[in-house]
Amino acid sequence: MAETSPPHPSDIFLPSPDAVHRSRVPDYDGLYARSIADPHSFWEERARLLSFTRRHETLLDWNPVTFEGRWLVGAQGNITHNALDRHVAEGYGTKTALIWSGDGGEEESITYAELLERTIRFSLVLKKLGVGKGDRVAIFLPPTPAQVVAMLACARLGAIHAVVFSGFSQAALKSRLEDFEPRVLVTADVAYRRGKTIPLLETARKAREGAAAVTSLLIVERKGDSPHTLLPGEHLFSELRDSVRHENPGDPEPMGADDPLFVLYTSGTTGKPKGIVHMHLGYMLGTFATTREIFDLRDSDVYFCVADPGWITGHSYIVYGPLLNRATVLLAEGTPDYPDAGRHWSLIERHRVTIYYSTPTTIRLLMRFGDDWPKKFDIRCLRILGSVGEPLNPEAWHWFRRVTGGHLPLIDTWWQTETGMIMVTPFVSTPEKPGSAGRPFPGVQIDVVDAKCRTVPPGETGTVVIRTPWPSMFRTVFRDPERYRKYWTEIPGAFFSGDSARRDEDGYFFFLGRVDDVIKVAGHRLGTAEIESALITHPHIAEAAAIGKPHELKGEIIKVFVVLHPHAEKTPPGHDEIKKHVRTELGAIAEPHEIDIVVSLPKTRSGKIMRRVLKAREMGLPEGDLSTLED
Ligand code: WT7
Repeated sequence: MAETSPPHPSDIFLPSPDAVHRSRVPDYDGLYARSIADPHSFWEERARLLSFTRRHETLLDWNPVTFEGRWLVGAQGNITHNALDRHVAEGYGTKTALIWSGDGGEEESITYAELLERTIRFSLVLKKLGVGKGDRVAIFLPPTPAQVVAMLACARLGAIHAVVFSGFSQAALKSRLEDFEPRVLVTADVAYRRGKTIPLLETARKAREGAAAVTSLLIVERKGDSPHTLLPGEHLFSELRDSVRHENPGDPEPMGADDPLFVLYTSGTTGKPKGIVHMHLGYMLGTFATTREIFDLRDSDVYFCVADPGWITGHSYIVYGPLLNRATVLLAEGTPDYPDAGRHWSLIERHRVTIYYSTPTTIRLLMRFGDDWPKKFDIRCLRILGSVGEPLNPEAWHWFRRVTGGHLPLIDTWWQTETGMIMVTPFVSTPEKPGSAGRPFPGVQIDVVDAKCRTVPPGETGTVVIRTPWPSMFRTVFRDPERYRKYWTEIPGAFFSGDSARRDEDGYFFFLGRVDDVIKVAGHRLGTAEIESALITHPHIAEAAAIGKPHELKGEIIKVFVVLHPHAEKTPPGHDEIKKHVRTELGAIAEPHEIDIVVSLPKTRSGKIMRRVLKAREMGLPEGDLSTLED
């Protein structure tokens, strides 16, 4: 599935001359060439479109020893001023900022003026709980307006948010709280998923036990009918909001080049998720410019991105990037097949969505349900399609384009939690090749290289590296600078993305998947070591190995091999029990799909598990050089 071959030469889709003419990037080749010759001017021009209380003195201060890129040095500003206040001040207060569709079909529409007001009230509540500039706040909320508002409220105060996906288990939340040590944890009484009520508060309460740094638990009520018995340190948002009703809103906190905006935890190659740290001003510039130019945003657009703000896609392309561009954003809770497979198509019809930014797994799922579903709805309002998270295979590419009219640009965007912004992408004005994410965003110097960082020739597979700094680059790994260094020293001279790809003669990227121990299940990033660590906490499991196995719908699925403790061999745990164990430790997204109970695992002489061998066997491929194998 991850393997995409370069397309046949005829498999190139040209944009209409009209689309090119009207696009924000009418001459990609010229713009890219200029941006590489003079990246400073390219980013300066974009920074000028944003508003600051003090302008920067230096666009970029790059330290090639520590690999820290300080962007907009000397500037002072706040991302929420640019995302909210500014639009209201310019007369767009009545424009819809957010349309929300809940799991049960309930809807809410919020204008820019209202979103600003809610953000201010939320920030005053946080302030009341002692939160100020530089303080940390964890947000464990389902995809709802409150989640967006909580993020913006932190940003406004200069507090650092860490949003934790609301589908994570208590143990997964707890380990993040232990690392992040937030002063406040924000949660809701309940969440809803496929019509079922999920006791979110219970999960948050359990996770908070032992996380001593969390002094307050702030509860946003969703159900609102059952009176809550509050434990010490717990507060109802509604009550605190009433108490700050008459307080002076104050100005957004002025933030500088060295002030973080958020930490977002993501999986890597060790058992512990890493806190990716993004900086306030640079992140603002990168997400602003990419959203504007890639999605070609206009005031008349209704923009629908299917992600959860709990992941980086939601941070950059539901919350910050679109709001910075004064977009009308549709946020949908729930899954694309609940209550039925028409969920997204009907939202598109109902809200006249013009830009639909989806994922390969969603597209393949909708494809399974067939052409009749999109046909039932009037989706002619669409003008741009997007995809992100994993390779979009040509079959799904063609289907998506065909059922949406056969003429829309399909923007397959490549980027990562670490990059913060889209790095490789087609534009509405550029030719497209099915299976390709196109070419680099202007100003981005990305390459496909060998182990010595030498560019590989077209058609050859190599590792994806980024050679120069970009505005929304992460600054460090929270509390782990050594892990940050590793990104820049793995292949000396560039940032190591962990992906492999090949480029064709025209410079189009075809991403092939990860080269490290990261699995992508339905676009979600999971570390094999994380899954293995969770497995061996089971009392009967002695050793475990996890691999990603290609899957038609989800891109990859998790297959695990476990070795039992001798004492457990007579009464081995059932597959369901093992699955449930991982669910409890990490959450439903990490649940293994296939389990093999084995007597031993292939290891090197130094005792490292050779997942490569397990994977090759699983896929019926040659096992490669096994000379270092112990068993
Ligand atoms: C990894 C990053 C970027 C937001 C969502 C995921 C894979 C992402 C594509 C794409 C092929 C892709 C890569 C990357 N990936 N977009 N268009 N084509 N692969 O963020 O969780 O940090 O994962 O997702 O493997 O390294 P993330």
